[in-house]
Amino acid sequence: MIDGQTQLVGVMGWPIAHSLSPAMHNAAFGALGMNWRYVPLPVHPTQVGAAIAGLRAMGFRGCNVTVPHKEAVIPYIDQLPPHVARFGAANTLILHHDEHGQCTISGENTDVQGFVHALQQSGVDPHGRQVLIVGAGGAARGVIYGLCQAGAASAVVLNRTPERATALIADLQMQACETALSADALTVHGLERHANEAELMINTTTVGMWPHADASIWPDDRPLPRHLVVCDLVYRPLETRLLQQARASGAVPIDGLGMLIGQGALSFQMWTGIWPPEEVMRAACESVLFGHQGHRDRAEAQSGHGAA
Ligand code: ATR
Repeated sequence: MIDGQTQLVGVMGWPIAHSLSPAMHNAAFGALGMNWRYVPLPVHPTQVGAAIAGLRAMGFRGCNVTVPHKEAVIPYIDQLPPHVARFGAANTLILHHDEHGQCTISGENTDVQGFVHALQQSGVDPHGRQVLIVGAGGAARGVIYGLCQAGAASAVVLNRTPERATALIADLQMQACETALSADALTVHGLERHANEAELMINTTTVGMWPHADASIWPDDRPLPRHLVVCDLVYRPLETRLLQQARASGAVPIDGLGMLIGQGALSFQMWTGIWPPEEVMRAACESVLFGHQGHRDRAEAQSGHGAA
């Protein structure tokens, strides 16, 4: 029941209707018997400052930030840890209210740690590993930053537009990342060669995302290397064509919900001080993705990639 004591958190984005985060967080609040609620906040790009002033004024305890606002919120944050300032994007706001009506906002980026947490939950520690990343967009940036922090030995970035991969690693190299970074064009030959050398392959592109669920970055006529752990950030559908190919080849598939849950669990803990039940969060996401009858092909949303 919502009453006078209910504490509010939410997620701001544009659009926001596709987000799994309200279902995921509210399920965790329910399971823990906490009088908190998590609401979707559709915030037009012209209204980011006003929306943050509204969070302060209305006593929100926290807020997630998703596409396209992760960079735009930075100037409105009062306390920004150096690693978030360097990264230049925040996905979590923590609001501290005092009895005089003052509110201080601190910012974090749980996408980065959430990704590493998700890998570790699947039994994969990126420390010392050789990693192949496909894609060079915003999601790739968070993944590579996380891999640098986790001490991966090397990361090769392949992208359809190779200049974007080169620019991305140049930017990360300026930030004293000790992981050996390199960039190349995404070609079938290059993909196969690098996949044979890597231990972990991560798809950060939108290839294979609903409604193009038949697409894959990997060619259909060859198996994936058996030794590879294959992680796909796409979670609509949950088992992408790439993960089907990985499973059929004897490689280890890791689905995209882990990262969503990892970043969500870290944000939840920052707001409440409590680590949420991750299995409850996953079940809530799956229930939205598959419908209550378990229809795995029910996918009415526009997006299903990365975080929040
Ligand atoms: P996000 O912030 O979610 O990473 P993005 O910045 O739009 O989204 O990046 C999407 C990534 O998917 C890019 O690496 C993009 O490649 P380009 O930089 O060449 O555009 C990649 N991508 C999208 N569609 C693709 C396709 N059909 N084949 C290969 N790569 C694709």
